[in-house]
Amino acid sequence: MTAHEAYTIDPWGLTEQSLDLDVLARAESVFALSNGHVGLRANLDEGEPHGLPGTYLNGVFELRPLPYAEAAYGQPESGQSVINVTNGKIIRLLVDDEPFDLRYGDLVEHQRRLDFRDGLLRRRAVWTSPAGRTIRVTSTRLVSLTQRAVAAIEYEVEPVDGAARIVLQSELVANEQLPSADGDPRAAAVLEAPLVAEHHSCTDAKAVLVHQTRFSGLRVAAMMDHEIDYTGHFEAATETEEDQARFSVTTVLKKGEKLRLVKYLAYGWSAARSLPAVRDQVAAALTAARFTGWDGLVAEQRSYLDAFWSHSDIEVDGDVELQQAIRFAVFHVLQAGARTEERAIPAKGLTGPGYDGHCFWDTETFVLPVLTYSLPDAVAQALRWRYSTLPLARERAAQLGLAGAVFPWRTIRGEECSGYWPAGTAAFHIGADIARAVERYVRATGDIDFERDYGMEILVETARMWRSLGHHDAEGRFRIDGVTGPDEYSSIADNNVYTNLMAQANLRAAADAAGRHLHEAAALGVNTEEMAGWRDAAAVMYIPYDEKLGVHPQAEGFTNHEMWDFDNTPQDKYPLLLHFPYYDLYRKQVVKQADLVLAMQVRGDAFSAEQKARNFSYYERLTVRDSSLSACTQAVIAAEVGHLDLAYDYLAEAALMDLHDLGGNTRDGLHMASLAGACIALVAGFGGLRDHNERLMFRPRLPSGLSRVAFSMRLRKNIVLHIEITNAEATYSLREGDRLRLVHDEQEVLVTSQKPVSLPIPRPVPLERLTQPAGREPARRQAQSGPTIASGDALGVGQDE
Ligand code: BGC
Repeated sequence: MTAHEAYTIDPWGLTEQSLDLDVLARAESVFALSNGHVGLRANLDEGEPHGLPGTYLNGVFELRPLPYAEAAYGQPESGQSVINVTNGKIIRLLVDDEPFDLRYGDLVEHQRRLDFRDGLLRRRAVWTSPAGRTIRVTSTRLVSLTQRAVAAIEYEVEPVDGAARIVLQSELVANEQLPSADGDPRAAAVLEAPLVAEHHSCTDAKAVLVHQTRFSGLRVAAMMDHEIDYTGHFEAATETEEDQARFSVTTVLKKGEKLRLVKYLAYGWSAARSLPAVRDQVAAALTAARFTGWDGLVAEQRSYLDAFWSHSDIEVDGDVELQQAIRFAVFHVLQAGARTEERAIPAKGLTGPGYDGHCFWDTETFVLPVLTYSLPDAVAQALRWRYSTLPLARERAAQLGLAGAVFPWRTIRGEECSGYWPAGTAAFHIGADIARAVERYVRATGDIDFERDYGMEILVETARMWRSLGHHDAEGRFRIDGVTGPDEYSSIADNNVYTNLMAQANLRAAADAAGRHLHEAAALGVNTEEMAGWRDAAAVMYIPYDEKLGVHPQAEGFTNHEMWDFDNTPQDKYPLLLHFPYYDLYRKQVVKQADLVLAMQVRGDAFSAEQKARNFSYYERLTVRDSSLSACTQAVIAAEVGHLDLAYDYLAEAALMDLHDLGGNTRDGLHMASLAGACIALVAGFGGLRDHNERLMFRPRLPSGLSRVAFSMRLRKNIVLHIEITNAEATYSLREGDRLRLVHDEQEVLVTSQKPVSLPIPRPVPLERLTQPAGREPARRQAQSGPTIASGDALGVGQDE
């Protein structure tokens, strides 16, 4: 069974109708719960079998050496890896002396459902033990979006066909044994037993474990407390040892009698606070959670999500599977960013250990554009985390002999953790990506205080970096040589168009912001001469162009390179990075992921319509999409240049990346950039949104497979713009706020609270299908209309639509 055959299509949730032990790890990622601070993979309550056990706390990592075969100046010496912290999800069950373990006995029924509207993961299992006793287990799990340190599980067991002796063991387990990594560079480094025990204690139904990481010196506390709902006689006991705490309860249940347990969990960590302080912090969080109670936590979760969906939903008519995938994407992007509170948003969120839990440009380029218009406070938090790492970024710049700040290509705390500099340190564009996210956030929200207090310093320090990294050549052009753009199958190239255009925007944004906050800019040492220097460099930024071919080379000289031999590359040799040496990839025309095409999205103002069409068709023939960060961008530009059905194919690929496990590595965690990218593909692709000017611009066009797309955008403090797109027209209305000027198809429009505006959409002109490298064509999307699950399914959750 493939992953997607196991999920039932329904617009507001994801249901797995049976358990496939071969793809357990994949399901653990897909059903993961998180609030951006605490992340729980969807491991089974009883702990085993598991694919990859995972409990993560944002910012908790261990240091590990980065060995190099050959030493060189400026290489990062240590890496940071996310660690699996104390597992509080475990509730083991014994039925008449037999452990409830799905690998034995007979699993009569097993269902799980993640509901995007209430944020709960529900499970129901009916199991016959090897001795022949049948029980029903139901559990519901949440990671609170309103109480950031808290998770909770409601667990119920009921014998179905006769009395049974039941023992429940609810646990905290530290230093769980993990399966070893498989040699794929995208997987994680496994760190054996990273937690050193510091404290364990228990009272009543409550227990706490405090540990410290060995090298990174972080203190982690996990605490649990319980409520039992059973009127009959039972015995309970709590015990702890260094790496384990256990609350046990035992009774004999008659047929049809239920034992209900509610487990409250609280997590906390600190690099600075003392043991009593961290222990008391989790005790306090647990007290608050118990005060709220299970029903209260569930109600809070629902009202948080109701408020979120009321202005963040993206509706898609005509393809119910895509609708589900988009809401799945929005839900997981929310989970990744909601409560990071000045910590990074990793490429996998907190759904798995892939890429060692590192944060990349994925955050600012894909995730934050989505959150900017739905949960702007989360964007401010994420960018304040970048701001907090400025001292490290300044140190790194100094080490590299540069001015300003060099942000790391991959990191957890802020130090560069990439041991491969051609696709790490050399990807200087990360600085401009962060700057762009600052600019976008400030423009969308009008949060001028943020710009003055945080944003400007990021803009100034990155502008300084560009000014010192590039130089004016003999012809007066400003060149940026020896850098790596987004496409990781080219490296250390001169004048990468994406990088130069982003640097240009960065230099201008810094000068503009400094001009708005002269006093604060002066405090950073900015003077008019420096600002003029940034503007000069931006004005003469060199953007190479291949006159002969009539296209932009991705970087200077790129179009002279030999073509990759696509026709003789078998499909099982993809991704190419696992089968061919980098030296060969680097010297040929082959593109891992949108690079020049991304430049045409984020700096669309720098290209004419004809250039966009020609460039797009040129790079389509070279782009193999070995990165999940590509399809969404190709969708946006395909839509812009009129290849609407191709855009639809790419959109579906981005949206289904994890639900269909298209990259084969969803087990290591979800592809947050692709999920966010799917939302971008809809809004910027079919909605045609461009936000690089003062006025939002739209150019809506739908592919033949979709009959309607609708979405909302939160702007400034008090505006919610709603956009409805059909094949014939687009309607703009204000759900909150009085008036907004925007641009529809180059026409200025005023939308007021009294008057929605409907404008026609021209009929698309059919174009000949473009070609991609042999075998790398996106799957042609056939709209999926069902089957949907009927309301009142086995998990007791009805669907409204
Ligand atoms: C991509 C990068 C990306 C990283 C993490 C790589 O495969 O090439 O652009 O940042 O994955 O998602």
